[in-house]
Amino acid sequence: MEADSLDRFQSTLIRHTGLVIPELDHPQLAELLKKRVRALRMPSHRDYLALLENDSSKSRDEWRHLSHTLTIGESYFFRDNGQMTLLRETILPDLIKNNRHRGQLRIWSAGCSTGEEPYSLAMILHRIEHLIPDWQVMILGTDINETALAKAQKGIYSRWAMRQLDDAQKALYFKKDKRGFKLSQLIRDRVRFKPINLIKTPFPSIEGDLHDMDLILCRNVLIYFSQETGHRLARKFAETLRSGGYLLTSHAELSAPYPPGLNVRIMPESIIFQKLDGDDPKHKPTSPRPPTSTAPLLAQLDANAAARPSTIPAHTTPLPTHPPSAAQPHRWQADVKRLQEAFMTKRYKEALALAEQMLTQDTVDQQRFEILFLTARIHANRGAYRLAAELCDRLTALDRFSERPHLLLAHLLEAQESATPEADALQIRHHLQKALYLNPDSIAALLEMSALHRRLGEPHRARRLQKAAQSLLMQWPHQEAPEFLEDWSLAGLKEELSRTLESS
Ligand SMILES: C[S@@+](CC[C@H](N)C(=O)[O-])C[C@H]1O[C@@H](n2cnc3c(N)ncnc32)[C@H](O)[C@@H]1O
Repeated sequence: MEADSLDRFQSTLIRHTGLVIPELDHPQLAELLKKRVRALRMPSHRDYLALLENDSSKSRDEWRHLSHTLTIGESYFFRDNGQMTLLRETILPDLIKNNRHRGQLRIWSAGCSTGEEPYSLAMILHRIEHLIPDWQVMILGTDINETALAKAQKGIYSRWAMRQLDDAQKALYFKKDKRGFKLSQLIRDRVRFKPINLIKTPFPSIEGDLHDMDLILCRNVLIYFSQETGHRLARKFAETLRSGGYLLTSHAELSAPYPPGLNVRIMPESIIFQKLDGDDPKHKPTSPRPPTSTAPLLAQLDANAAARPSTIPAHTTPLPTHPPSAAQPHRWQADVKRLQEAFMTKRYKEALALAEQMLTQDTVDQQRFEILFLTARIHANRGAYRLAAELCDRLTALDRFSERPHLLLAHLLEAQESATPEADALQIRHHLQKALYLNPDSIAALLEMSALHRRLGEPHRARRLQKAAQSLLMQWPHQEAPEFLEDWSLAGLKEELSRTLESS
């Protein structure tokens, strides 16, 4: 394929969706382009790209397909405890106080994926609704991915999406059925969903009902855009807020310079932005707290986790040994070696401290990915599953075409005891399918999928997958077993595979 076609594909994607595909993922992007040209039986890349630039029902269908394929929709209820506390204890009480004269609240969750974020807000508001009887409360959830919105509307979730909820919240808002957990109508009725492409849909807009918002949440969305797009959207969000309204992004998603009219407030849990027009005392922030720094992410060791055994094998792919910059090549190589040794010998505290320190160096994306991946595996091995899963989100953002975070997510699910094994099996299958879609030659993913099919009572499929893994293993060029399987020697793994295939 001509480099020109790939560049054009990439710039069309940015123009339409804002999504910037990291350079590391360009080979997979080229694959996707080829695949779509074949699937639509287009004579050439050029025709396909022309279709994307058209405005027809066929091109809209294709954009729907691409948005679904390229977006990363991982979400869960009460994601980011700190921000949720801030919403419950500071932001919503402040908005309620200042809006008393209107009896209205307008909330927009922009990039809401499968709905967990706006539904979490609906749950918070449900708990304090005695403070706002007869208020008109609008919670709008929007996303470019219509498949995700359809799922939001259905309101059926896995235990994994509910991992931050306590038992009382689960009992109050969910009913178990065989597809997972169904969110109660009480909460579903409070949220309205609508497909909106933040890049293309005009806002603020009266016709689109995107105006005069009291609160906008746009979390874990801007990270996929360029800094320039992030700034442009922040300006538009500021224009869409009422005076006194708040904008909440994820940590470090929005960098300075901040748009005029948006005041930055540094709270212990998160940075928040508040629109303050003029000097209206009604909209002075309530009880501002002193700025404090947040604990470094990598050092947040789950105290309960330390003693828990893990079913996840310890192993790592060799880190790139070339230094991030030419400045201190020897130091970088020595650090990589120390980090791997600390990980392999399970000296996790030491490995985490070192990883954190390495991340302060001027790393390129691939090095950052490897260090974070190793960190996620350490958290997983220590039983700190939530932290590990949060890092997987960051890893998929860094490299959306890597199968490894998906494989780790499948392992995280498997490692936990489950109250709903059927729903979890679906989630595990989803992650393994994604891993295999991204890397059909992943031996660990093939074996995991095979084991899953065996558990689900599908021995023929299990056998087929195991045979595929075996034939890849026969050509495996390394001395050691593949990642995630290194508790085995290579010879031992081959032998075990032959043995189980013979006996099945
Ligand atoms: C990782 S999810 C974030 C979900 C939720 N906000 C959270 O923090 O849990 C990112 C979402 O942004 C959406 N997104 C990406 N580009 C978008 C665009 N141009 N317009 C609207 N939504 C977009 C994706 O479809 C995806 O559902």
